[in-house]
This record gives sequence, C-alpha cells and structure tokens, in this order.
Amino acid sequence: MSPSSVLSSCPSTSLPDFQAEGMSMGHVQGPQPVLLPTSRNAPVSDTHCPGSPRTQPVEAIVRELLGELGTYDETSLYHSVRVARLARTLGRALNLTPVQRQELHWGALLHDIGKLAVPRLVLNKPCALTSEERAWVDLHASAGAELLAGYAVFPHAVVSIARHHHDAWKNAGAALPLLTKIVAVADVYDALTSERPYKPAWTPAAAFAELQRQAGQGIDPQLVTAFAEAIRACPDFESSL
Ligand SMILES: [Fe+2]
Repeated sequence: MSPSSVLSSCPSTSLPDFQAEGMSMGHVQGPQPVLLPTSRNAPVSDTHCPGSPRTQPVEAIVRELLGELGTYDETSLYHSVRVARLARTLGRALNLTPVQRQELHWGALLHDIGKLAVPRLVLNKPCALTSEERAWVDLHASAGAELLAGYAVFPHAVVSIARHHHDAWKNAGAALPLLTKIVAVADVYDALTSERPYKPAWTPAAAFAELQRQAGQGIDPQLVTAFAEAIRACPDFESSL
C-alpha cells in the first residue's frame, strides 16, 4: 500500500473551532508550567537518559513538555517515545559521542512537540486533510522549534531536529545535520509501522522497503541501511520484526 493510497477520500470538513479547542499559536509561545499527568508516567519514564547533573533541569523540562503533549494528544506522546527509542538504537550503531546521543535523545522525544499547536480535530482526522488542515499540520515543525528555543536551555541540535525533521524527506538534497536525519528516518519508520486512523500498520519489512525507496534525496541510502541493520540486530525489537 503506497502512502498516497492510505488516505481514503471523504468529505472535507470545515476547520475546527480553534477557540473551542483552547488552542492558538499563543499556546506554544514561551515556557509554561505544566504538570506531568500520572496516567502518562509509564511512557514518559522512558525519557531518562543517564547524564551529568547538568542535564537534570533540561530533563525536567522534557518530562513536563511530554506530559503536556500526552494530555493533548496521547498518540503523539507514544509516537515520540517510540521514535526516541528507535533513534537511540541507530545512534548507538553509529557510535555517536555521548553529547550527540544526549541531544539525539532529547530531540527525538520533542521532535513533534509542535503538535501542541495543531488542533486535535486535525491531528486525529481519520481521512484526507484539506489543504488548510495540511497547512496546520505543517506548522508543527516551526512551532515546536520556536517553543523549544524559547526555553533557552536546549542545544541547537535539539531545536534543529524539531524544525527540520520533515525537511529530509521533503527537500531533495537538503543538507541536514546527522541527528536530524536519524530522527527523520525513525519518525517515518514508526509512522509507517503504527496503526493510524487513516491506515493500518505496515510490516517492518514493508516499512524498510519504503524507506529505501524514498532514500537518496535528503536521506542517505546508507543511513537507511544502517537503521534497518541496527533495528534487526537489537533484541528490544526482535519480537516486533
Ligand atoms: Fe513531525
């Protein structure tokens, strides 16, 4: 099944009432104190990544932001945690430095934090989006980057991952940092292998094949090959392959 065919046709809906959704672009402007919902403790506990005490304040902000994302859209939270796990697996295989691995971990967890700026009705629409709805979804990359930059504690690489994680696939020849490309690969793999309102879950083999088919533009084919080998060799993913 091709990516285009998974989008079934259905009548367009008018844009949701953003005020009623409690959403506006102002929602993501600047740090806001948020509480970590207890119901999200299981997936969010996977945010821990051993580091120096210096990382602890950032880690707390990461947990708060993920808690807010989980409250807003549970699907996005679980996706983000899975993408981080996949990205870390590839990062280990590529022998990244400890600093790179830490940045990759945070960046992968927060790559979709800008979904907080996308109306829920658009995020969960079970069929094709209108062009206006697609524009809202596309906004999440820059919105997430602006949110993270506003905290002034995240490394540039983390902000860059949020801003550019879709560019690797959209812009042929885009010169993107390695960490951004790793998250881009993990992001698409998880999107393909996960069930969504508008499509069934692809098998890992079909997803790897699709990644290879799309490679060669912003994503190096070698990176996709390294990803497939790393996932297949990782005991954590054995049962799902
Ligand atoms: Fe995204």
